[in-house]
Amino acid sequence: MSKSNVKPATGKLGVMVVGLGAVTTTFMTGTLMTRKGLAKPVGSMTQYDKMRVGEGADKKYLHYKDIVPIADLNDIVFGAWDVYPANAYESALNAEVLKEKDIEPVRDELMAIKPLKAAFDHNYAKRLDGDNVKTGTRWELVEQLREDIRNFKKENNCDRIVVLWAASTEVYVPVDETVHYKLADLEAAMKADDKEHIAPSMCYAYAALTEGAPFIMGAPNTTVDIPAMWELAEKTKMPIAGKDFKTGQTLVKSGFAPIIGTRCLGLSGWFSTNILGNRDGLVLDEPANFRTKEVSKLSTLESILVPENQPDLYGADHGTHTGYYHKVRINYYPPRNDNKEGWDNIDIYGWMGYPMQIKINFLCRDSILAAPLCLDLVLLSDLAARAGRYGIQRFLSFFLKSPMHDYTKHEVPVNHLFQQYVMLKNAIREMGGYPADEAID
Ligand SMILES: NC(=O)c1ccc[n+]([C@@H]2O[C@H](COP(=O)([O-])OP(=O)(O)OC[C@H]3O[C@@H](n4cnc5c(N)ncnc54)[C@H](O)[C@@H]3O)[C@@H](O)[C@H]2O)c1
Repeated sequence: MSKSNVKPATGKLGVMVVGLGAVTTTFMTGTLMTRKGLAKPVGSMTQYDKMRVGEGADKKYLHYKDIVPIADLNDIVFGAWDVYPANAYESALNAEVLKEKDIEPVRDELMAIKPLKAAFDHNYAKRLDGDNVKTGTRWELVEQLREDIRNFKKENNCDRIVVLWAASTEVYVPVDETVHYKLADLEAAMKADDKEHIAPSMCYAYAALTEGAPFIMGAPNTTVDIPAMWELAEKTKMPIAGKDFKTGQTLVKSGFAPIIGTRCLGLSGWFSTNILGNRDGLVLDEPANFRTKEVSKLSTLESILVPENQPDLYGADHGTHTGYYHKVRINYYPPRNDNKEGWDNIDIYGWMGYPMQIKINFLCRDSILAAPLCLDLVLLSDLAARAGRYGIQRFLSFFLKSPMHDYTKHEVPVNHLFQQYVMLKNAIREMGGYPADEAID
């Protein structure tokens, strides 16, 4: 690690999560159990992956922490905001993701995590009606959240803070150039209490960045996916990452679509459907909230199977700008709770246009897949901040369904899982003082 010029990860790292639901309580419980040696953080790249640095005779395979200084799990202190007052222990039990035997050993630590009052607006998530909420204009909410962050940092003697949104998906907020393009306009709208254009999540992001904390958007909300927030991140020199954890179906899609593209097979349709019975599924049953998720989930294929590059294989035909029909559905189905079932039906064609089908049935556990992403995104955003990186962190695209990119400059997001992995490794190599490369491992 001697080559790295990143600031060391000394002191406590405050991880303040927005939303104390299924995902975050699974993340917290797993982290606390791992600390006690009672569980393994399976699925976490920062805890398991080994990557190559150097080439030829100098090459070695190292864990990330042996290349760059990554915060130790023992140094994490958790905090949270939620609309409901239940503490992390109660909320973990309610979520029914983990068995009691996997929660009880860290009961005391979880009970101590009591949610701060949320910045919430019922119109952004109509199926929620908790009363652990702040009052005030959008700007007053920002100020209260800033105070929460400052108090938390002081009370817990934290060296640094990272804010992670893993709260419910808000209704879709289309980007409006008059409000979302310039920081001054965004601030003016917050001060004017413009509830239509300023989602509560934007108050959290604004507060985090202004308090010197990286902000991660784990839901598909457009919160930091707007030029005004990029401007704020540049101004405060803070990293931002988003959006939407890439957990189940989209992980499969971004890993499987390259098989079709690399092998030069044609695609005529990809139908993805899910049944899900947790509170996330309930919120997403509301059409306006589902719209946010749909936009995020649909974006994956088009940048992997690009119609303009291969008109015979992916070109226009079906009245859409791509030649293939891509549909994504989520249906709320309570009996399954957090155990989501995803089906993908993929209609492909081969030699001389002859059709074939592929079916993928993924019986996954949503929060079990999301928890390690929370850990990796938090630790790597904190690393990025200490490395002096700010603005959109493209190297974190690997973990996200709808990676942020500067669409005002027609930048194209990278959705291809294996290209994203190269970006991740190269950023770590660079932060570790090694040259970036694309050699085959
Ligand atoms: N689990 C996955 O695989 C996965 C993948 C991608 C994205 N996500 C996203 O992660 C988020 C969390 O998922 P979950 O299953 O934990 O949901 P959940 O419903 O169990 O928890 C969300 C929590 O957020 C709280 N909340 C809502 N609005 C809030 C606000 N403004 N401030 C503070 N708290 C607020 C709710 O009260 C709830 O307790 C969702 O947006 C979901 O779409 C999950």
